[in-house]
Amino acid sequence: LANGLGLTPQMGWNSWNHYSCFIDEQIIRKTADAMVSTGLAKLGYEYVNIDDCWAEIARDDKGNLVPKNATFPSGIKALADYVHSKGLKLGIYSDAGYFTCSKTMPGSLGHEEQDAKTFAAWGIDYLKYDNCNNDGSRPTVRYPVMTRALMKAGRPIFLSLCEWGDLHPALWGDKVGNSWRTTNDIADNWDSMISRADQNEVYAEYARPGGWNDPDMLEVGNGGMTKDEYIVHFSLWAISKAPLLLGCDLTSITKDIMDVVANKEVIAVNQDSLGVQAKKVRMEGDQEIWAGPLSGYRVAVVLLNRGPIRYSVTANWDDIGIPQGSVVEARDLWEHRTLKTHFVSNISATLDSHSCKLYVLKPIS
Ligand code: DGJ
Repeated sequence: LANGLGLTPQMGWNSWNHYSCFIDEQIIRKTADAMVSTGLAKLGYEYVNIDDCWAEIARDDKGNLVPKNATFPSGIKALADYVHSKGLKLGIYSDAGYFTCSKTMPGSLGHEEQDAKTFAAWGIDYLKYDNCNNDGSRPTVRYPVMTRALMKAGRPIFLSLCEWGDLHPALWGDKVGNSWRTTNDIADNWDSMISRADQNEVYAEYARPGGWNDPDMLEVGNGGMTKDEYIVHFSLWAISKAPLLLGCDLTSITKDIMDVVANKEVIAVNQDSLGVQAKKVRMEGDQEIWAGPLSGYRVAVVLLNRGPIRYSVTANWDDIGIPQGSVVEARDLWEHRTLKTHFVSNISATLDSHSCKLYVLKPIS
């Protein structure tokens, strides 16, 4: 969407994966505090996003959305002021239907202009727009109404479409929003995570600065996967130019989880100025190569072992878009190490079950 936002994939945090409906203003404030104190903000994580369940079930007598008094007593404007005072941005959630998915609050269908104005007046920077409990009309009819309403609201607001991929939003999303979900909800386990990456990969051609494919938010740190599996999760999201929206409890984040989500070099792959989503370029049973170009004639490549046993995986220059005959320097982004060997024609690694390597390759002659 040509609103000047999302020139690289959005980075931040969202309440849903960890807290689902059990949110309140204290959680949002503490998360903003933690984003700064952990150093995550400095690495580019900027949006603090409230998901479903923040509003009263009834609008006020003028038809305005009302923050839930029991959990957001200070209101959303005060929260936005607080989050902004930390140098961060505040995101909110609504739905292109009559009620949101939780059915605990109203959706914006039929109230798009009024709600967009409310969000702008509160100082909101990001809207996630869900698709539950709608009138049965097509998302291509309902979503652009919110796009126009936001454009008239007088404040740049990132628009994240949450249509779940049913009507192939990659094909129309770039005129409507800054990112679009390509999948149903992720869960905190390997099969769910890897299948979302697969479904999202199909649409690689449609990602570009201003509009990104969204395989759903990160589960890193929620406890359902091993560290290697979370490294695969973060590597695939990074190379796929997916939104990096953390979904764990930032106030108790561990060193092991920080090792994953605060890896500067992996974040730099995601935020690279070229903005090209990687593709699966070779599959051999449980072994796969995912690769995509980066700025400066570099290539990012993931060597992935999805299988149950240790296996050797090889990426050939032919498959990953490096000209034959090139001599290549390789940086291992998880080991933080530039390999001493220079590579001609391919690079290999032996990988444990459910693990990967992420290399940035640079032709040097
Ligand atoms: C469905 C979305 O896909 C989820 O990410 C989350 O926003 C829930 N709805 C909230 O009800």
